[in-house]
Amino acid sequence: MTSRNIVKKLFQHIGKSTPLAIRFSLLQERGGTDLGREVRGYAVKFYTEEGNWDIVGCNIPVYFYKDGQYIVGLIHALKRNPVTGLRDYNALFDFILHRPESLHEFLWIFSDIGIPDGYRHMSGFSVHTYELVNEHGESHFARFHFITDQGIKNILSQQALQLGARDPDYATRDLYNSIANGSFPSWTMYIEVMTKEQVEKADFDPFDVTSLWPKGRYPCARLEK
Ligand code: HEM
Repeated sequence: MTSRNIVKKLFQHIGKSTPLAIRFSLLQERGGTDLGREVRGYAVKFYTEEGNWDIVGCNIPVYFYKDGQYIVGLIHALKRNPVTGLRDYNALFDFILHRPESLHEFLWIFSDIGIPDGYRHMSGFSVHTYELVNEHGESHFARFHFITDQGIKNILSQQALQLGARDPDYATRDLYNSIANGSFPSWTMYIEVMTKEQVEKADFDPFDVTSLWPKGRYPCARLEK
């Protein structure tokens, strides 16, 4: 399925600046803890002169599945069991076993980066591959990476349990307080780029959201501030 949201001026020249908003989110139900072992949403909205342009990314650079119909199974596996009213990790592991492509993202989630130390210390990734067309009509294909300037920091499970018991709003409070105190977090944007020819000849699927592009094979350039 192709989705086209065309803006022409957003990355027009070095030094151009565009206002944006980022919304961090959790899969948690309302009232849940900020300190769960799960993926965080990293949704970026650029307010361009031609209208809004969105990158609905995550703090993990891959996604669970390629086929949108599996959202229903995943969300049900993550929610409470309707019979017991409890979280059901058997349902979660049933999902992973039936959809082995989701294991890649779950390996990230079950690794040390699975509980970021607040939103300021995590990076964001577009996950999807976007088509960029220059003024000569040439296409390039890019994945966007927003790397935290605060440095990556994570919390281990035991510490997360203790912190979460005291302050389930830990990440939200950290972000609010840091901005209120004038310490503004920032992220540097990078693009990982393939030419159209490289995409056509690739020995992997550059549009597969469950996989990374082979590390170091394509340039990952920093967008100048
Ligand atoms: C085809 C697969 C997908 C489906 C069906 C889907 C569905 C949804 C739905 C229904 C919501 C809204 C939830 C709500 O507001 O209650 C949502 C939100 C979101 N999704 Fe997806 N999603 C898919 C793939 C993705 C992918 C690949 C990413 C990351 C690259 C992603 C990132 C997000 C984020 C960050 C939000 C929250 C946006 C916000 O801040 O408001 N989703 N998704």
